[in-house]
Amino acid sequence: MIGLVMLAIIGMGTLFVVHNARRSVAEEVRSSVNLALQLIDAGLEQAVAAGRSPVEWIAQLARLDHARHLSLSIHQGERTIIDLPSSAGPAEGEEAPAWFAWAVAPDPLVAEKHLHQIGNPMIQITVDANPADEIAEAWIEARGFLLLMVALAVTVYLVVHTTLGRAFKSVGIILEGLEDLENGDYSRRLPEFYLPEFARISRAFNHTVGTLEKTREENRALAQRSLAIQEEERRYLAQELHDELGQSLSAIKAIAASLRKPERDDRPNADAIGAIQSICDHLFAVLRTLMQRLRPLMLDELGLKASLEDMIENWRGRYPSIALDFSCDDGIDECIGDARIHVFRIVQESLTNVVRHSGAAKLGIHLDLIEATGERPEALLLEVSDDGAGFDPARVPAGLGLLGIRERVESLRGQFSLSTRPGAGVTLRIEIPCEGTCP
Ligand SMILES: Nc1ncnc2c1ncn2[C@@H]1O[C@H](COP(=O)(O)OP(=O)(O)OP(=O)(O)O)[C@@H](O)[C@H]1O
Ligand SMILES: [Mg+2]
Repeated sequence: MIGLVMLAIIGMGTLFVVHNARRSVAEEVRSSVNLALQLIDAGLEQAVAAGRSPVEWIAQLARLDHARHLSLSIHQGERTIIDLPSSAGPAEGEEAPAWFAWAVAPDPLVAEKHLHQIGNPMIQITVDANPADEIAEAWIEARGFLLLMVALAVTVYLVVHTTLGRAFKSVGIILEGLEDLENGDYSRRLPEFYLPEFARISRAFNHTVGTLEKTREENRALAQRSLAIQEEERRYLAQELHDELGQSLSAIKAIAASLRKPERDDRPNADAIGAIQSICDHLFAVLRTLMQRLRPLMLDELGLKASLEDMIENWRGRYPSIALDFSCDDGIDECIGDARIHVFRIVQESLTNVVRHSGAAKLGIHLDLIEATGERPEALLLEVSDDGAGFDPARVPAGLGLLGIRERVESLRGQFSLSTRPGAGVTLRIEIPCEGTCP
């Protein structure tokens, strides 16, 4: 825009200069021709007053050298008495460029004078103007003005361009900072800018991001703490169920067995005792499932991979219509350390969601270790994808399940992404940095 305005100013200046030059060249040429005619008139009058013949006086004109931008020709009848061309024009290098000469050239100006003499043929004096010299002079003046104007325009353009460029560079850096913030990178800080308004924005941005980063850290710590309390509570409940309820059930079952004496023919009692035993068996089964859900004991003893395999085996038995593809890299236990209960819970919730909501025929669960590259630490990548109904995350109200998954992932400084749309299944991608490699 600024460049265009400058070009427009230069264009208008050029028009103005050309217009003035054209007027002054035309005036110069006209006045030269007029002057020449007046001088010829005066000379002739003087010659006549002195009793000389006009032809004699005219002959003297032949001695004139070039008359700058005038050419003079005098004819008597068919005879040429004088043919005085104008000077050769401006010197080499001083000529105006063709466009300027074309723009300022005046209309052709030829003045004629006729002298009638009795008994002699008429004398015809022709004064013809050649404006080349005038145009060259006008060009020299215009050139100076145009150069000055171009120099001024370029200077103004450069000053404005540099100032605005600096301002826009700051805007670019601020935008990058905002984008990083949008992507969850709270470590970004803006530099102290040169322009005071941007410097204030930068300070306010840094302050806000600092506060956000602190708040996120506090949230993460709180989430970690509350998840740890939850897991601790579950572990305690599982232990109590095992120690108290499990022991008591075993005792009831043992007592029932001791009451069943084969020698006594006591059918009603035998039936009741049999019922107690089968209720005990049923309660044992319920208790085992409950304990397993509350705290997968295998997790502490055999590790994450074995516990997941066990859960999946169990799951395949219960839902044979869903083809489940499961893979798990060795070494995930070393990578994930104490966070394995979280990964276990995430897979557990994903499986529950697939059964409850998806109606899928195929389900894939893959846990891969990804190597460290550049800024990314070594990490565990968990992908759960089904080919079921999918959903529109903007419309479906969030439940506690997905929210819990997100919280667990965030408390482990991981990345969570859910891609789904109606009819296209659900893919859950989770990346958790390995223990000890968190930034
Ligand atoms: N695999 C899936 N296929 C289709 N829809 C799903 C799937 N997983 C989740 N959803 C949709 O997302 C919603 C939220 O899931 P989320 O697990 O957060 O809550 P929920 O399962 O409804 O309840 P809960 O709090 O008991 O887990 C679900 O109600 C369901 O509509
Ligand atoms: Mg759920």
